[in-house]
Amino acid sequence: MKYKELFPIFNDHDIHYLDNAATSQKPSRVIESISKYYSNSNGNPGRGSHKLAIESSALVEGVREKVRQFIGARKTEEIIFTKNTTEALNMIAYSFALQKLTADDEILLGISNHHANIVPWQMVAQKTGSKLQYIYLDEKGQLDLSDLRRKISNKTRIVSLSMVVNATGVIQPYEEVLLIAKEYGALTIFDAAQSIAHFHHNVEALDVDFLTFSGHKIYAAMGVGVLYGKKEHLEGMSPFLFGGDMIEYVEEQHTDFAELPHRLEAGTKDVGSIVSLGAAIDFIHEIGFEKISQHEKELLSLATEKLSGIEGVELYHNKDIDKSGVLAFNVRGVHSHDTSFILDNYGVMVRSGHHCAQPLMKHLGIPSCCRASFSIYNDEADIEALVKGLYKVKEVFSV
Ligand code: ALA
Repeated sequence: MKYKELFPIFNDHDIHYLDNAATSQKPSRVIESISKYYSNSNGNPGRGSHKLAIESSALVEGVREKVRQFIGARKTEEIIFTKNTTEALNMIAYSFALQKLTADDEILLGISNHHANIVPWQMVAQKTGSKLQYIYLDEKGQLDLSDLRRKISNKTRIVSLSMVVNATGVIQPYEEVLLIAKEYGALTIFDAAQSIAHFHHNVEALDVDFLTFSGHKIYAAMGVGVLYGKKEHLEGMSPFLFGGDMIEYVEEQHTDFAELPHRLEAGTKDVGSIVSLGAAIDFIHEIGFEKISQHEKELLSLATEKLSGIEGVELYHNKDIDKSGVLAFNVRGVHSHDTSFILDNYGVMVRSGHHCAQPLMKHLGIPSCCRASFSIYNDEADIEALVKGLYKVKEVFSV
């Protein structure tokens, strides 16, 4: 099956899109699901008793149930729709951590976390006086579990981790981290933004406290994200946003809030994006994670072999380590933005810069890098184009 044929962007553009960790392209069925929603079913869910409002509510709740099954949550009300992963992590920080943490508490983060899983915790630490610490990496790029054991204690209340490193694709030993956190009674928060597209997640089997992800990384539209939380935690969270649809009854001086999940979903939702998330989950189920993961591994292995053979190209965290389909690299002596700009002239799209992971870049001792990230629709021709493009970069910069 040529998956590219299912994605209209590849029909009209001669491109080699290797920036899937930033956002995935959308298959026709996802794009059509949005158009179909606005053409046939558009109404404001949870408001009004007319057919379109009711139909819209049913669509939202149908996708909520689909997401529940997709990540193995026990209860539908444990699925909260947000705008994206960043908003979901901020909700945990503002509505949970700010209320619960004190100056006696500690927060542990992976140094390889995305900024969205660092900056909200800096805010929590500043406002509550709690202490922020980082787990550093071993030479392969995974969290060093002995460093975790050195830093964790009974004071640790939160361990928050990006399951897959956005810049390098390294899969973190999240199951081991979770077990260690549990020994100390710390809550676990998994940012699945970079893992959700690559392998199956089961929050109940993992017994993780919170998990977050964005729809646009798994072929859905930008504008919908998910916050999963165990019901006992979500029930203890004060709303982050106040307003329409999150209330039971409003008096002049007092409001009774609605039950979960609506209590944490104030305001009109991006229903088109939510609907597209349902279509994207169906798409993933039809292909199957086994196939997705196998295909990405094959591309990663081919790309690693080819790029390793180009003199002057440095790869980061690429050896003997479980990774999603991501390869981080630099052409020695050339800024990553210059490399990316030249590659783009040959139709090859990679991300360059610090990848919203400046603490990781500092830890790696580099200012920035390029990142090629693969998806189900990428093929050998994309890797050949990347390799050709890199020889052009070397030519232009006389490397
Ligand atoms: N977080 C996205 C990335 O890693 C945007 O590129």
